Amino acid sequence: MNLSIQLAPKHHQGLLLANPVMTAAGTFGYGTEYNHIFDIQKLGAIVCKGTTLEPRDGNPQPRLAETACGLLNSIGLQNIGVKALIRDKAPIWAIWRVLVIVNIAGETIDDYAKVADELDGVAGISAVEVNISCPNIKAGGAEFGANPDSAARVVAAVKAATSLPVLVKLTPNTSDIAKVAVAVAEAGADAISLINTVKGMAIDIARRRPLLGDITGGLSGPAIKPVALYMVYEVAGAVGVPVVGCGGITTASDAIEFIMAGASAIQVGTASFNNPRAPLDILEGIEEFMQKEGIENLTDLIGAARR
Ligand code: SIN
Repeated sequence: MNLSIQLAPKHHQGLLLANPVMTAAGTFGYGTEYNHIFDIQKLGAIVCKGTTLEPRDGNPQPRLAETACGLLNSIGLQNIGVKALIRDKAPIWAIWRVLVIVNIAGETIDDYAKVADELDGVAGISAVEVNISCPNIKAGGAEFGANPDSAARVVAAVKAATSLPVLVKLTPNTSDIAKVAVAVAEAGADAISLINTVKGMAIDIARRRPLLGDITGGLSGPAIKPVALYMVYEVAGAVGVPVVGCGGITTASDAIEFIMAGASAIQVGTASFNNPRAPLDILEGIEEFMQKEGIENLTDLIGAARR
């Protein structure tokens, strides 16, 4: 069986994944944290925590709240900063078989461009994923991704700053995600990943206060899967670049739904908190499904529900 997938067919280097299973930014650390739990080299790609120009401490605690079938987070892009990532993490990735993609974020367009520029040509980094979808920061993030024009401006600046393939992660917190997707594709995105978290909140009724330290957060997990699937279906029908599906994927059959909706690859996020082996279980489940159905090439499944 052939599960490989080219995620950047229009890019001079390309981004060839051995299989479609990726980890979602912010849920898998830098990959090293999971190395002793299962053979992470078997995955298609690892997307590391959102990375900014300078290190960030993140938002006040509490930053996590469980909800029915989901998880609210307001981490606030706590991360080590791009310089430490290049110094301490990239040399480890450089000897890995699995591809590593760095999720990048910023408060200004210039921040994004500078982070992309720093990462250009660093061994161990195969692509960047532009995070214009984090709902938990005061400036930048989802603010850029909610609007087609600002989203396109960020992507154009990143494309000009790096020779790496560029994925763009979209927010569902916008009135027309397909319009944003078309704008970022026109600005040069090599692939589009969606969705990031859905903005939400919880209230601690004993204290009569918002539960999260930053009041609002982003909802992930199975609760958002139907929303994510619908948006992937919409976007895959609107753009000519590969789409990466993300949002509540917990089982292989969830992943196959996203692929049939038009995703070329998928990201496993919140499921890893409940089952750290989830990405590998999902990969093995996709393989079993293909074997059972007599499907030789993963590409035959992509968009199957659209035909
Ligand atoms: C966070 O760090 O607040 C979450 C990251 C994201 O939603 O992109």
